[in-house]
Amino acid sequence: MRSPTILLLATLSALASASPISFTKPISFLNDHLIPKHVRTPMPSSCDLSAAVQPAATPPLPAVSSGLSVYHIAIGRGTQNYTCADSTSASIPVAVGAVANLYNASCIAASNPQQLSAIPDMILNVDLDELDGEIPDNFIQSGVHYFSTKTTATFDLRNYGFTNSNKIASVPAPASKIPAVPWLKLEFNPIGEVGSVREIYRLNTAGGTPPATCAGMAGAFEVQYSAEYWFYAA
Ligand SMILES: *[C@@H]1O[C@H](CO)[C@@H](O)[C@H](O)[C@H]1NC(C)=O
Ligand SMILES: *[C@@H]1O[C@H](CO)[C@@H](O)[C@H](O)[C@H]1NC(C)=O
Repeated sequence: MRSPTILLLATLSALASASPISFTKPISFLNDHLIPKHVRTPMPSSCDLSAAVQPAATPPLPAVSSGLSVYHIAIGRGTQNYTCADSTSASIPVAVGAVANLYNASCIAASNPQQLSAIPDMILNVDLDELDGEIPDNFIQSGVHYFSTKTTATFDLRNYGFTNSNKIASVPAPASKIPAVPWLKLEFNPIGEVGSVREIYRLNTAGGTPPATCAGMAGAFEVQYSAEYWFYAA
């Protein structure tokens, strides 16, 4: 019998070619397969984040600036949005931003990094509307991510602060994974409200990539994605 992981990856790569994609796993899937039992009940209210090790990009992204330390780690689950000038293969989809919910994964990162790295691929398989309505046990929403302008990535982490940021570096997602948007480093932009976060990394991405051309696509469309977001503060 093939392992659930292999089946999941096979399903995802089959679906990835037909985008936009929509997944329909019940929310119980998350509780049954995603959140490790030993951190389920009770989830500690604070974790030693100094034990959390950021996944390494290849080639590497610029290192965290000196004086900063990891402040919060979240799983983002949402859509990457694209537009197409027409529906022909002569046009190429243009990225126009993203919208995602952010879920507090700090304790999972501190206590079970391997589990954390599996989450983006798994949570991609869970229906977004269900995630909006019903938060799984101990997978608490810490905020939302959206674009305030074409290039300003906004992270509203509610209790953990508000950050506008801009991309400063990008490397492709590892080729061995399912098609996924690049891994990024973002730097805070002191416009508007300024929290304590100074640098943000988007890592272990899953999904979110557009088709190669606009053939058969609508003028605006979304592609489901998820990722780890690592937030650093002074
Ligand atoms: C939520 O994030 C904060 C700050 O990173 C952390 O102290 C807390 O333990 C986290 N909670 C969970 C359930 O991960
Ligand atoms: C992206 O998609 C979301 C979800 O449908 C939508 O609310 C948002 O307005 C879109 N954003 C852009 C920039 O198109």
